[in-house]
Amino acid sequence: MTEFSFKPDSVELGSQTNFVPSFDPLIPHPEHVRNPYKVYAELRTNAPIYKSPHGVLIASRYKEISQILKDPSFGRGYFYFENMADRLGSAILKQPVYDSARNMMLMKDRLDHLRLRSLFEKSFSHKSIEKMRSFMRQMMYELIDAALAKTSFDIMLDLAFPLPSAVICHMLGIPKQDWHKFNKRSATGSRALEPAPLNPLELAQQNQSVNEFREYFQWLIEVKKKEPGDDLTSMLVTAEAQEGNITRPETIDNLRMMFIGGVETAVNTIGNGLLALYKHPEQLQKLKNQQELLPNAVTEILRYDSSVQITPRQAREDILIGGVSIQAKETVLCIIASANRDPDAWDRADEFDITRRSSYPLSFGGGPHYCIGSQLAKVEAEVALQSIFERMPNLYIDISNPQWLSNTVVFRGLKSLPATV
Ligand code: HEM
Repeated sequence: MTEFSFKPDSVELGSQTNFVPSFDPLIPHPEHVRNPYKVYAELRTNAPIYKSPHGVLIASRYKEISQILKDPSFGRGYFYFENMADRLGSAILKQPVYDSARNMMLMKDRLDHLRLRSLFEKSFSHKSIEKMRSFMRQMMYELIDAALAKTSFDIMLDLAFPLPSAVICHMLGIPKQDWHKFNKRSATGSRALEPAPLNPLELAQQNQSVNEFREYFQWLIEVKKKEPGDDLTSMLVTAEAQEGNITRPETIDNLRMMFIGGVETAVNTIGNGLLALYKHPEQLQKLKNQQELLPNAVTEILRYDSSVQITPRQAREDILIGGVSIQAKETVLCIIASANRDPDAWDRADEFDITRRSSYPLSFGGGPHYCIGSQLAKVEAEVALQSIFERMPNLYIDISNPQWLSNTVVFRGLKSLPATV
């Protein structure tokens, strides 16, 4: 079978009613967190569009997910907040964390989405990203020097986390003395993207973080107004001056989106990538011997163990997908990490192979919301891996008992990855 030639449907989608997966893919269970791919395979085989007891639909195959992501009958923001207000009362939308989310491009659709996204696109162009390569390399060298000065260190904390966080600070023109304020792994705001509602403590923490962020960026915007620089914040300040482009709250909340979208995702790609390579020593050796394989290897890392596992859509109208009827307002959680392991889309789907050709994983989503930072994330991973191989040829990583982030079904990443040189 050639890659991406679909086999005929092996399962009649409309016919599965009694299947119960071994874990609820919406509730982080230790076994699911350790290996989500087992339950994904069950879902693909038995119920490719599964209605969970919580009432949301879960899509797990490449074919339906790629259709849903691109189909204009689905949106990201449509009904998301309306459903939330129906469930929890409309006052919930006034909570800073949700008020902030409503301004983000990720949660907008159609014209509003286009309006906001187009203002950010220049900063994510191929040219702008390539210009940051040397900055990234310099950062990695500094981090590696600091790690080499210790007898043992943590790949996640000492090497993987600081790079994407610094890259966003650099892009946004945040003064270097303030970078440490954005250097807390738990503070990136990604918890609010989980399907499980925030508990009161989490809500209070998220609200506080949003308020602090908003206050800081209100200040930074005033600084950039007086002294504009060659950075994204200054560019948005200029755009604000023209009516109808972007409002001040939208500027601030979309700058916050950069941290939510661009830190934990990129950090975990570096961590998941090193883990996959060290678990497959022959692939690691091949990559070290043939560094021209790096871009391909990063794509395979994203396919094999994506740092984002799920992206949701809401139906804007009643629609039939593969024989399953989806009602307007219903949520479909698209398990992109399952689509990436779908044997109908890839040969040897569960094998990690850095030489795999014509691989287009769904790790960055699809359609109008396709990740704006995809190129940036790939270059970050390339630079991180290349610098580590170059400066730490004898790196030993303890892969015996990987500790995964445990309170998430949307993101997949390691808490720590102990190493020595
Ligand atoms: C390997 C790392 C990354 C992964 C796996 C990833 C994955 C994703 C996914 C799955 C989506 C939703 C797409 C959809 O629903 O169709 C998304 C959207 C987005 N990502 Fe990323 N992302 C990564 C890195 C980044 C970086 C580095 C940035 C920015 C600095 C970023 C910023 C965004 C933004 C702003 C959106 C919303 C785009 C829109 O709604 O138009 N991401 N990303």
